[in-house]
Amino acid sequence: MEILNVDLKERSYPIYIESGSLNRIGEYLEKNYNGKRAAVITDSIVKNYYSAVVEKSLSDKSFEVELIEMPPGEKFKTLSVVESIYDKLIEKNFSRDSVIISLGGGVVGDLAGFVAATFLRGVKFAQIPTTLIAQADSSVGGKVGVNHRLGKNLIGAFYQPIFVFIDPEVLNTLPPREVDAGMSEVIKYGLIKDESFFGFIEENFEDIRSLNNMQKMEHAILRSCEIKAEVVKIDEKESGLRRILNFGHTIGHAIENLTNYELYLHGEAITLGMIAAGEISRKIKILQSEKFSRLENLLKKLNIKSNLKNSNEENLINAILRDKKVKNGKINLVLLEDIGKTVIRNDIPNNVIIEGFNYILKN
Ligand SMILES: NC(=O)c1ccc[n+]([C@@H]2O[C@H](COP(=O)([O-])OP(=O)(O)OC[C@H]3O[C@@H](n4cnc5c(N)ncnc54)[C@H](O)[C@@H]3O)[C@@H](O)[C@H]2O)c1
Repeated sequence: MEILNVDLKERSYPIYIESGSLNRIGEYLEKNYNGKRAAVITDSIVKNYYSAVVEKSLSDKSFEVELIEMPPGEKFKTLSVVESIYDKLIEKNFSRDSVIISLGGGVVGDLAGFVAATFLRGVKFAQIPTTLIAQADSSVGGKVGVNHRLGKNLIGAFYQPIFVFIDPEVLNTLPPREVDAGMSEVIKYGLIKDESFFGFIEENFEDIRSLNNMQKMEHAILRSCEIKAEVVKIDEKESGLRRILNFGHTIGHAIENLTNYELYLHGEAITLGMIAAGEISRKIKILQSEKFSRLENLLKKLNIKSNLKNSNEENLINAILRDKKVKNGKINLVLLEDIGKTVIRNDIPNNVIIEGFNYILKN
C-alpha cells in the first residue's frame, strides 16, 4: 500500500493507493474514523459494480451503512440532487458524528463532498474515487461543489476529506473513452510540474492507458496526486500557485461551453485546451517548437476529434470571458515555458488566443 500524506496542517490527510484493495476499505475507515455510521453516496452505474464489496467490507468492521444512490452523469451534479440526499440523511437521523463516503467519479465526489461540507454545518468525508480523473485529480485538494444552470461548479466549498482510498483495479470497468479523459489530467501533471514524469508517460503510454500494467498506472496516479498535493499545500484556496492546475482549462472550459457540454467529456476538452495553450506558448516564443511537438504528439495519442466547426472567434472570446477565472476582464492564461514549467500571463492579445484555438481546429 502506497500512502501519500496531503500536508495541510490540521486538515492533513492520507491518500491510500493499492490495486485490488477495495475489499479492505472497512479496515481503513476504522483507522481514520471512530464513529459508527456511514452514508455511502454513489451513482447507479458504480453501484452495480462496487457497492456490494464496499458495503460488505464496512459491515464486516461493524459500521452501520446506508447506501444513497444518485443518477449518473454531469447533469445530475445539481442542488436538487443535493437536497434529495439531505432528505434521506435527515429521515435516517444521521448526526454530526457520522461520515459521508463518496464512491464514484468526479461528479459523485464533488457532490458528496458538498453534502458533507454543508449537512449539519459539516460532517466527516472520505472519498473512494472510481474514475481516472477522480483518482488522479479531483479527489485531491478539497474542491467540492455542484453546477448551476448558468455555469459549471459555481456553487461549492473547499472541504478536505479525512482520507482518500484509491484502488486502480476499478478502472478495468471504466469505458476506454473515460480512461483517456483521465489520461489527459495525468499528462497535465507532467506538463506543469515534472518533465521526467512526462517522459515516463511518453515511454509507457500504451501500458498505462490500456490498463495492462497496473504498477505503471499506480505510479501515474501516485505522481499526479503528489504533484497536486504539493501545489495545494502551498495554496489551498487558489489565490496564487494553485492556478497552474488550470493549464488548458481556460480554452477547454470555453470549448465545453460552446458545445453545450454535450460533444466532449471534460478531460477531452482540456486536452484540446492544452494543445491550444501549448501553441500559444510556442507562438509568443516562450516555448521551443520541439517541446511543443512533444506535448502535441503525446496529447494527440488520446485521439480526440475536434468538431468545432460551428464556433466563431467572437463566441470563443465571449465564452472565455464568462469563465470564473477571468479577473477584471483580463484573461489569465496558464502557459508553458518548458515541459514542467508554467507561467501565468494576462497580456496575451485576443488574436493570439484565437490563433491557438484555430490551431486545434485545423490540426
Ligand atoms: N474537485 C476537483 O478538483 C475537480 C477536478 C477535476 C474535475 N472535477 C469534476 O469531476 C467531474 C468529472 O469527473 P468524472 O470524469 O469522473 O465523471 P463522472 O463521475 O460522471 O464519471 C464518468 C462516468 O463513469 C462512470 N463510472 C465511474 N466509475 C466507474 C467505474 N469504475 N467503472 C465503470 N463506470 C464508472 C460514472 O457512472 C459516469 O457515468 C466534473 O464534474 C468536474 O467538474 C473536479
